[in-house]
Amino acid sequence: MKTKGCESVDLPLRKYVFALPGREVILDVVADVESLITDLSDGDKIPCWAEVWPAARTLGRYIWEHTRMWGQSVLELGCGLGLPGTVCALKGALVTFSDYNEQAVNLSLGNAAQNGVSARGHVADWRCFEPAGRFDWIIGSDVFCDPKLNPYVLAVIKSHLNKEGQILLSHQRRLPTYEFVARVREELLLDEIRLDLVEVVEESVYGRFAVSVHHLLKR
Ligand SMILES: C[S@@+](CC[C@H](N)C(=O)[O-])C[C@H]1O[C@@H](n2cnc3c(N)ncnc32)[C@H](O)[C@@H]1O
Repeated sequence: MKTKGCESVDLPLRKYVFALPGREVILDVVADVESLITDLSDGDKIPCWAEVWPAARTLGRYIWEHTRMWGQSVLELGCGLGLPGTVCALKGALVTFSDYNEQAVNLSLGNAAQNGVSARGHVADWRCFEPAGRFDWIIGSDVFCDPKLNPYVLAVIKSHLNKEGQILLSHQRRLPTYEFVARVREELLLDEIRLDLVEVVEESVYGRFAVSVHHLLKR
């Protein structure tokens, strides 16, 4: 497995504070995301890793309030800036951040570190994902919106989830993601706890976002 240590990122950053009940999570986020845009016609070049999406916030809160992860292993897919994975690490999990963007993995590792927890990093593309071991949990926020990529993501989940493993997915109520979740449930014979929530993001002009969280676990 190609693991990464925490390396510094050569980009202007700013602090982002995410409040959980009883705890703040401090993240370094990219100060000017638009400056990273080079080619909007190529999906792989869109810097969607550089935002903390509403689905990441909702998943972070769900993990904090509704899961027990102490000593368990977690693989975060498409970690972006690593908010949900950092919350898992704060709950005592052994977290591996993964993304095909190396800067995303570096920032996630730095974000975990600045909250006093350590993690591992795995730079990998779902389309040719180098094995990273088996995990008790696989989590992902806002990562299943491109239906073309979903067969690859499904293969990564199948080859990386422990027999009794659990999955947490969150998204802004996107139809392809509901379809994907149904497929994952069917193929892995999992039950589902689903919550439809509203995420309020005060610093956004849009303000309120509808987000679904899917918690998939063994029948
Ligand atoms: C919409 S962003 C979500 C980021 C973060 N999870 C959040 O919710 O804030 C999608 C993430 O998936 C990653 N991603 C997209 N395609 C990928 C691929 N083929 N392999 C691995 N990661 C990918 C992106 O780099 C990005 O970090």
